[in-house]
Amino acid sequence: MQVKRMREEYGKLNRVEMSIWECCELLNEFIDESDPDLDEPQIEHLLQTAEAIRKDYPDEDWLHLTGLIHDLGKVLLHPAFGELPQWAVVGDTFPVGCAFDESIVHHKYFTENPDCNNSAYNSKYGVYSEGCGLDRVFMSWGHDDYMYLVAKENKTTLPSAGLFIIRYHSFYALHRAGAYRHLMNEEDVENLKWLKIFNKYDLYSKSKVRVDVEKVKPYYLSLIEKYFPAKLRW
Ligand SMILES: [Fe+2]
Ligand SMILES: [Fe+2]
Repeated sequence: MQVKRMREEYGKLNRVEMSIWECCELLNEFIDESDPDLDEPQIEHLLQTAEAIRKDYPDEDWLHLTGLIHDLGKVLLHPAFGELPQWAVVGDTFPVGCAFDESIVHHKYFTENPDCNNSAYNSKYGVYSEGCGLDRVFMSWGHDDYMYLVAKENKTTLPSAGLFIIRYHSFYALHRAGAYRHLMNEEDVENLKWLKIFNKYDLYSKSKVRVDVEKVKPYYLSLIEKYFPAKLRW
């Protein structure tokens, strides 16, 4: 299974050592081709998301930081990370090992995927069980899961809702279509509420409101210091 290989390979975190902010700057060299509305540097998208959340939820500093870092996994596009192609890094994510939900974009193409004809994988539960928790569910590979791995392995102190947002923000079948609820546990249900809140900002913050990077930088550096080590392994 290709998903497993990617996760094992990138899960080693042996490519680069850098801080969260250094990663924001590195990502700034890239534009997400999958996103036609986004013609500004990534760092603006990250800060617009974070600042919009900060305005409405001033006390949830973890959520501001989550906004800033949620897309950092896109560094997988960078040559230092093997320059993965766009399709392997961005786009919707979905569970593997059970039936593909109809709400997944390009669902019809899954009929060409051999998993669809494998009776171990093509039923509603597949290899999983009722309420097993999303943590046990294998997801397709993308920038979400990679950044989740980075945060977790580098021992972030972000609350579980922050990690959940990072990990599942491209899982549209879950947070937009309400699919795969049968695999969620209680903690997932709680965390999903935050993901839905977050998602509004992720989408609508792609406005033309400019953010003065230098002005807000000290605030975000203080949050990074609060929730992350100075250097992380990527
Ligand atoms: Fe993203
Ligand atoms: Fe985003």
